[in-house]
Amino acid sequence: MNDTDANGSTLLIVEDDPAMLVAFRDILEGSGYVVTTAANGKDALRLLQEVKPALILSDIAMPGMDGIELYKAIRQRPEGAAVPFIFVTARGTREDIFAAKALGVDDYITKPATRTELLTAVRARLQRSDELLLLQLKAVLRAMANAIEARAGVYTLRHVEAVNAYAQAMALELGWDEFQLEGLEFGAILHDVGKIGVPEKILSKEGPLDEDEWAEMRMHPVYGAHMIEGNPYLDSALPLVLHHHERWDGKGYPDGLVGEAIPFGARLLAVADTFHAMTSDRAYRPALASDKAFEEILYQSGKQFDPQMVEAFERCWHRGDVARIHKSVQPDSG
Ligand SMILES: [Fe+2]
Repeated sequence: MNDTDANGSTLLIVEDDPAMLVAFRDILEGSGYVVTTAANGKDALRLLQEVKPALILSDIAMPGMDGIELYKAIRQRPEGAAVPFIFVTARGTREDIFAAKALGVDDYITKPATRTELLTAVRARLQRSDELLLLQLKAVLRAMANAIEARAGVYTLRHVEAVNAYAQAMALELGWDEFQLEGLEFGAILHDVGKIGVPEKILSKEGPLDEDEWAEMRMHPVYGAHMIEGNPYLDSALPLVLHHHERWDGKGYPDGLVGEAIPFGARLLAVADTFHAMTSDRAYRPALASDKAFEEILYQSGKQFDPQMVEAFERCWHRGDVARIHKSVQPDSG
């Protein structure tokens, strides 16, 4: 177990037994957590006005306000509604366990807890909490991205899902790791969010765009990058958002980057995005058949696209991934 993986997360320990409090604090501080303590429920509630812990570890039996009352009070506050909460108690009776479970308490450890028990419970809870946060974030972002796409017309309704599915298939083909896949997913979800800054009359125009309109349209990667910059969860998606319209031959936008100067993920996303755009109905033209779109992707290898990415797409095509995804994102596929 790595003792330095705590990332300085702040934990709140609520415990009326000073010896126990010190023991817990030492173990957790020794593992890199920042620990703040309270001797009872009332003190803990006061502390929570200043400190925002990543997790609360609380005794049940305490004078004044006990752990159960504290838990209920914290859950009623908007800022405390989602904080992971672990009960630590010497009692460990059936009633306590039932009471905790009925309240939906995340976890329960009995004293005397070993170092491993304590750290395992804390790490598991923090990790679960991160995962839930990430899932919620993705769901919200996907809804926002779909709403933005919808301004351009119904045909783009599943654009985000489709682009992500094609991109993930290609990335697996290229052997990307979990971290890269996660960044790619955020990139796929968010690549066009900057279209929120482009007037609807341009997005949904039925004819070709004039020069000024094109100039406006070409700003969407820049707008999108501004929208997400500074958010640590979305850092890895930023280069994908900003550069998904760059071209291998340098004729793309916004920066006209050439070849390998274009971020890797953006080169991949460009293929997935373009394939889905070509195979979707537009206000000014019907969808291209997928074999025609595939031919166009191959033709653009070394021109619009990185040949390596085209090869990955080609392998997905021959494996049947593209056909499967194409079918699953058709408007009538549910
Ligand atoms: Fe775009």
